[in-house]
Amino acid sequence: MKREAKKELERLAKLILHHDILYHTNDAPEISDADYDKLRLRNKAIEAQFPDFIRNDSPSKRVGAPTLFDSAEAKQTKGFDKIKHVRPMLSLDNAFNDEDVFDFVGRVKRFLGLGEEITVALTAEPKIDGLSLALRYEKGVLVSAATRGDGETGENVTANALTIKDVPQTLSGDNWPDVLEVRGEVYMARSDFAALNTEQEAKGAKIFANPRNAAAGSLRQLDTSITASRPLKFFAYAWGDISHVPTARQMEMVQLFKTWGFVINPLMDMFDETSGALERYRLIESERSTLDYDIDGVVYKVDRLDWQDRLGMVARAPRWAIAHKFPAEKAITVVRDIDIQVGRTGALTPVAKLEPITVGGVVVSNATLHNRDEIKRLDVRVGDTVTVQRAGDVIPQVVSVDTSKRPDDATAYIFPELCPVCNSAAVAEGDDVVVRCTGGMTCEAQKVEGLRHFVSRNAFDIDGMGEKQIAQFHERGWINEFADIFKLEAKNDTTSNPIQKWEGWGDLSVRNLMQAISARRNIEFDRFLFALGVRHLGQQTAKLFARHYGDFDTFIDAMDKAINGDEAAVAELIDIDGVGEKMAETFFRFFRDTENRRIVSNLAAELKIIPLELQSTDSPVAGKIVVFTGSLEKMSRNEAKAKAESLGAKVAGSVSKKTDIVVAGPGAGSKLKKAQDLGVQTLSEDEWLALIAGL
Ligand code: IVH
Repeated sequence: MKREAKKELERLAKLILHHDILYHTNDAPEISDADYDKLRLRNKAIEAQFPDFIRNDSPSKRVGAPTLFDSAEAKQTKGFDKIKHVRPMLSLDNAFNDEDVFDFVGRVKRFLGLGEEITVALTAEPKIDGLSLALRYEKGVLVSAATRGDGETGENVTANALTIKDVPQTLSGDNWPDVLEVRGEVYMARSDFAALNTEQEAKGAKIFANPRNAAAGSLRQLDTSITASRPLKFFAYAWGDISHVPTARQMEMVQLFKTWGFVINPLMDMFDETSGALERYRLIESERSTLDYDIDGVVYKVDRLDWQDRLGMVARAPRWAIAHKFPAEKAITVVRDIDIQVGRTGALTPVAKLEPITVGGVVVSNATLHNRDEIKRLDVRVGDTVTVQRAGDVIPQVVSVDTSKRPDDATAYIFPELCPVCNSAAVAEGDDVVVRCTGGMTCEAQKVEGLRHFVSRNAFDIDGMGEKQIAQFHERGWINEFADIFKLEAKNDTTSNPIQKWEGWGDLSVRNLMQAISARRNIEFDRFLFALGVRHLGQQTAKLFARHYGDFDTFIDAMDKAINGDEAAVAELIDIDGVGEKMAETFFRFFRDTENRRIVSNLAAELKIIPLELQSTDSPVAGKIVVFTGSLEKMSRNEAKAKAESLGAKVAGSVSKKTDIVVAGPGAGSKLKKAQDLGVQTLSEDEWLALIAGL
């Protein structure tokens, strides 16, 4: 009886899930509502009798999980829900030749303080050209699937992922961790891609540029039945959140994935020596054209997981992995014209308008010429025959000119001295190769680019406000500066020509936009900083600033002090990891400009700026200012610094009365003395390690 009950609950769980998907996501039920209700009632009755047998994936537990089965219609108005990654989804640094790979291994060794004689075993595997996906399993059952998004927060595509054959709904085998987030790449096979495009063409539907775009477009469908109809595949190669790691090696872990029901790449292997990994690179490169999926390089990972842990990450990439890219693909074509684009930071970028040509499967009609010096170096002229190259996601570029094919009347290109958009002087400062428009926010091009950046995904991420809408609002004079975005609703309520009457808008889209804008009145401090579009102030630096200064007022105060010549404030900024004097100078220039200051304070007045939570608030060193001095024996200086920062501490180079802890190794001199004089807490390396043990 008991065994039968258990079996029946299992059968019902599967059956009800099947009908749920048919009903909610495919809009194609196979049974009547009454029959469906009977199945659920039966499940409920058996569970009441045998509560010990209630399954983790029981249908009775799923009632409260609307995100998984929201109707396509409901999602259409909302977009995907967001999922915050427990561990960030990282990208990879690149290596372009063998030497870069040896340098990578050298860096790993130095960071870990390993002797020359010690070898670092590496795994090598193809870098799949698709999009990454994080699959979270709890007690062996898939509970969510998220795209990478900005690395911190992705989109909830659980219902879509469930339609992929290679994504197990429940794990097979045994000994999987209770919480297991498997990460890997969703991709479309080349043959499936070709068939899909033929089908799309016949239907008069959208043609995809390449398998990667087709995979991304197919996964991120609000109507899951479309995803289900697309032949997506999945390779598992990494993990995120995990309750315990069952092995000590990368290779073993990926092999476990296989026993749990995932597809792993057959070309992956482990090599004791770097030379072995490089041989695998050459093998994979030679097989590249015969594979039925696109790859753009080989990924090497340090095999020992304890070393991976110690290596950690820097900026947005792990120190323990690197992507060895294949050489760029090239093609020959003719330059029809040379255009100048003005970017957000005023940079004038020359762009070659080309006779369209296919490079590595993608049609290219524009290629960057980078800057004035590059045009001069290449001596590119309109009418020239040029070689264009495209590597991975980077913008195609002109690499050489075939002067033997140059038309007689082709004249040398003269780089403009005025901004083609606002006519302000365009100059290159000092030894900078970039010519910039000096118009600042008065230049329409810079303004519009700045506004586009402001609403973009990693900045304010305002749903329903993209390039098109920004252009529309700007043309009509409704949005001139950032703060105007937050005044749109009030303006719309008092105008005789409200947005809902404009072409392409309706009541619902206006309401949604206003809601999306209003939701962004509470904004994280680092997003706010990044959104300002200050040159050099990327996402990573914005995070560092947010962590360092805590909140907006403190930050602005520090900037003011620094601008007014307060040396301690200047030193504090330059001391932040990754900020140097040159970078600091561009920040000061931005905040010294009264127009910029006005724009920033107008914006701040519309918002509640949320301080960034310290990464690890329960760590005893969170928020503390730590100085390392003397020689460390158990870790390199870089490792110590990286670890301290990952625990929310700020690492400084010099001791002052603001310093909280000085970690002093043998040979420590003046810094230790200063700490003692100032009464700052001093710790030995062992005491420091004991303090942060287990974190
Ligand atoms: S490992 C922490 N392995 O490449 C390391 N990534 O450029 C995380 N990718 O976002 C990635 N094939 O989408 C890894 N075999 C592979 C990969 C791979 C493709 C993608 C992944 C990642 C991007 C980084």
